[in-house]
Amino acid sequence: MSALPGKRILLGIGAGIAAYKSAHLARLLKQAGFEVRVVMTEGAQAFIAPLTLQALTGEAVRTSLLDPEAEAGMGHIELARWADRILIAPATADLMARLAHGQADDLLTTLCLASHAEKFMAPAMNQAMWSHPATARNARQLTEDGWHLLGPDSGDQACGDVGPGRMLEPEDIMAGLSGAVKRPAEGLKVVITAGPTREALDPVRYLSNHSSGKMGYALATAAVALGAVVHLISGPVALPTPSGVTRHDVESADDMLAAAERLADDCDLFIGCAAVADYRAEAPAEHKLKKRDDENAMTLRLVKNPDIIARIAARDARRPFVIGFAAETRDLERYGRDKLTRKQLDMVVANDVSRAGLGFGADDNAAVLLWRDGDAIDRDPQPPQPKSRLAEAILRRALTRLAPLHHA
Ligand code: C5P
Repeated sequence: MSALPGKRILLGIGAGIAAYKSAHLARLLKQAGFEVRVVMTEGAQAFIAPLTLQALTGEAVRTSLLDPEAEAGMGHIELARWADRILIAPATADLMARLAHGQADDLLTTLCLASHAEKFMAPAMNQAMWSHPATARNARQLTEDGWHLLGPDSGDQACGDVGPGRMLEPEDIMAGLSGAVKRPAEGLKVVITAGPTREALDPVRYLSNHSSGKMGYALATAAVALGAVVHLISGPVALPTPSGVTRHDVESADDMLAAAERLADDCDLFIGCAAVADYRAEAPAEHKLKKRDDENAMTLRLVKNPDIIARIAARDARRPFVIGFAAETRDLERYGRDKLTRKQLDMVVANDVSRAGLGFGADDNAAVLLWRDGDAIDRDPQPPQPKSRLAEAILRRALTRLAPLHHA
């Protein structure tokens, strides 16, 4: 388990007899190199003492949302942000029901609601409770909400019944955790262009656009989290370099093309997210252009910039899987499909930049993903959501198309 990303795990313990196994699970997590913090529900404390978990993890165990002393240390929101992963074992039928409904009526459910961590649970309950349609409904909802359900196992139950509902053994929970967090883009080489380009008119002036670079940077962040090796070719933006990303700063479209051609030689997935200026000055002035009192107008002659993504997509050799963006204000899908075909891209992310609060400069975005499937074009509409979430959706969709190529 030593290669696991995200080593901070919050172990939530619910009120089930299987809670006694959570002590062993805490030990296994520690041995696997996790930093472990434990939160117990009130009922869990009837099955196992917080002190046991404290001794095993070396950290105070949190049990209450309304504990001023504990909140003075790491407040519950801080704890929610601290965790890379949350694992609830055992997860009782009641906990599942509360989580499925987004309740936040104790510390553990509140943390789950407040945290963006990847979430796992090992259900444990009587077989009739597990088989009840209400629990089945809750399990479906939780999976839909992104929870990974580990188990339950089937067999003898503490109550004397036999059937499904036993918590997985701690070793199996560890194996499930490890399998689920195997990163899908491990080893994939990704090159992303982001931000605007600047086309010099003279040494102090340039042509550019309002691209903030947020979408490209979100893609870089998401690709690293999924395990990829990421090179980000960035025009001038006011964003910090995402951790784990190699950034190449460029100014003009020509600079961006040179970096893209070089990096695409060793690349599986190329994403053109940059808002490349379509034109540049034909002859940028060597010295600052002076204002002329005798003329009320000036003429600038512009020439077309190279289409970076089309060049990469047109490669015969060493051609990566290529994803382009189509930022449109009308006829979104028509232009998106046209771009897919005309530029010979593998996928297009078409987004409507006329909608308030979305697209350019915003933190949220909505898009339609378009890709070729044989002779047809398939689509996956993505509702408005944070760019970070959309970035992950784009990459996961690309991975399903790429996987056969990547493993060929
Ligand atoms: O043609 P249009 O600019 O609408 O196409 C957008 C897509 O093409 C984006 O993926 C953008 O990054 C890419 N592009 C490029 N080089 C250009 C123009 C656009 O890579 N010169």
